[in-house]
Amino acid sequence: ENKPIRVAVTGAAGQIGSVLCFFIAQGRMFGPYQKVILQLLELPAAEGPLKGLCLELQDGAYPLLAEIRPSTNAEEAFKDADVAVLVGAKPRGPGMERKDLLNENAKIFKVQGEALDKVAKKTVKVCVVGNPANTNALIASHYAPSIPKKNFSALTRLDQNRALSQLSDKLKTRVEDIKNVVIWGNHSLTQYPDVNHGEVIGADGKRIKIRQAVNDDNYLNDAFISRVQKRGGEIISVMKKSSAASAASAACDHVHDWWVGTKPGEFVSMAVISDNNKYGVANGIIYSFPVVCKNGEWQVVNGLNIDEFSKKKFKATEDELLEERKMALNI
Ligand code: NAI
Repeated sequence: ENKPIRVAVTGAAGQIGSVLCFFIAQGRMFGPYQKVILQLLELPAAEGPLKGLCLELQDGAYPLLAEIRPSTNAEEAFKDADVAVLVGAKPRGPGMERKDLLNENAKIFKVQGEALDKVAKKTVKVCVVGNPANTNALIASHYAPSIPKKNFSALTRLDQNRALSQLSDKLKTRVEDIKNVVIWGNHSLTQYPDVNHGEVIGADGKRIKIRQAVNDDNYLNDAFISRVQKRGGEIISVMKKSSAASAASAACDHVHDWWVGTKPGEFVSMAVISDNNKYGVANGIIYSFPVVCKNGEWQVVNGLNIDEFSKKKFKATEDELLEERKMALNI
């Protein structure tokens, strides 16, 4: 028997949320056999679009979609959740400072953390997409003391996928032939896309280090990094709105690998609690690391060789997260 997984999605009627719901119903998150119950949360102002989304999901006639439960109440939406994807957040308004953005979102993620603490399963796996994602995840975790800290994560998989697509383009190779390119730190402009541990499978089937295959350190240390860091802005500038389907797709990749496990020999990026990491990053922040997942648990990949260039990049993004934490917890 296939017991359905309860998946809560917040901001379900938004740009990302609405695509994400269809992906989940199609099996992109838990595979082609796992049934799901979608528990969808929206603000009262978006009740109409939420209702419309539910009607369309019904009309998809998805065999995997056991039930759809829309709600405007967090405790209802998070009830017994196995997985919660927190997409809904306060967007940056005109003239709004970073501090205000952090504060507004801290309020939202405090309420949602408390609701998760009260009604979700203690094993709930939380993936925060809404920005500032890392610090929002930290706030939610802080207000959900009965749920282990390791169950809270933030999405940096979109950044990893962007890095893979850039390299695939540069090397004229298939994206699935590139492995172990990861993102460190914050889902922001200070993130560090790191190719040093990455490999590409050559035409002869041999594994080659990315640095060797690209053979252009100037590009890898500069244009590549900044293109990945600024890809979100690039999309807004051409589309006049932010990336949606690629973010939803990355959220599926993130939860899928956490739930089902990573492939042997491969690691992926997840922003998780930094406590007791072996890379010298301060404790108590949600920082993106290379991880492997097995039996529903992530583990940071240890023992990677970190050069001086990378250490500086680690530090810059760590400093930003420490500052965000200070501002967000000052509410
Ligand atoms: P959107 O504005 O289209 O949708 C957000 C939805 O969330 C709206 O329908 C809104 O009503 C709802 N919402 C707001 N506050 C809520 C609350 N307290 N409870 C429940 N629902 C709430 O925005 P979009 O484009 O879907 O983006 C959502 C978030 O994802 C933004 O913060 C964006 O910056 C972030 N994002 C993160 C990425 C990542 O890689 N981590 C990538 C792209 C976007």
